Amino acid sequence: MTPPIPAKHENGLPRHRPLRLGILGSGQGSNAQAILDAIRRGALQAEVVCVVSDVADAPILERARCQDIPAHFIDAAPFKTKLDGAGEQRVIQTLRAAAVDVVVLAGFMRIVKTGMLTAFANRIVNIHPSLLPAFPGMASWKQALDYGVKVSGCTVHFVDDGMDAGPILAQRAVPVLENDTPETLHARIQEQEHGLYPEALDWLAWGRVSLRGRHVHIAPPPDKEAAQ
Ligand code: GRF
Repeated sequence: MTPPIPAKHENGLPRHRPLRLGILGSGQGSNAQAILDAIRRGALQAEVVCVVSDVADAPILERARCQDIPAHFIDAAPFKTKLDGAGEQRVIQTLRAAAVDVVVLAGFMRIVKTGMLTAFANRIVNIHPSLLPAFPGMASWKQALDYGVKVSGCTVHFVDDGMDAGPILAQRAVPVLENDTPETLHARIQEQEHGLYPEALDWLAWGRVSLRGRHVHIAPPPDKEAAQ
């Protein structure tokens, strides 16, 4: 008999199938949708066990409700740009109650602080719309255009206490075109995000990811048929 797969890898990295995802977002939720679509077509061995938003009427919550996924609005006031204090505690309780393996930030517009980083050490990932370390922070597609780069892209990274600074799991490049506006460039980057984020999460589900300091190593794909 095959021994059960340990739920966690070295360094507390998740390794679990199906991976139990808790998604945090403040906006449209197109990445959340891409993750749900990838799960449905069997490209990502995961389930979304809850969606949490700090914005009561965020479309991401409505998307989750329509697909029968538990959706929670958690008021993070009085803070505006960080998740801290009572709001942070409520988010942690919600994610723990749903037995979340990996916290997926998908357009979550707050900085996560020590409470979350400790509760989910090496188990929080984010997607950022630039090739980090270039253009961390807000509206990176606009920063890229203003700077005049010819290539931008997106980055999936582990979250640490820096701003868009944690170890990089995956990146995809996107050309910047002559006639790009902030909107057209962001749309082209988002198209790549929707493929990259589910792919990187699937690596975690299959225990292919290991972390050595800042360096994230991705092991070759397993024989999925044999491992089922
Ligand atoms: C994405 O572009 C992501 O890179 C950034 O916020 C945006 C979220 O979009 N962190 P959506 O809510 O997933 O549509």
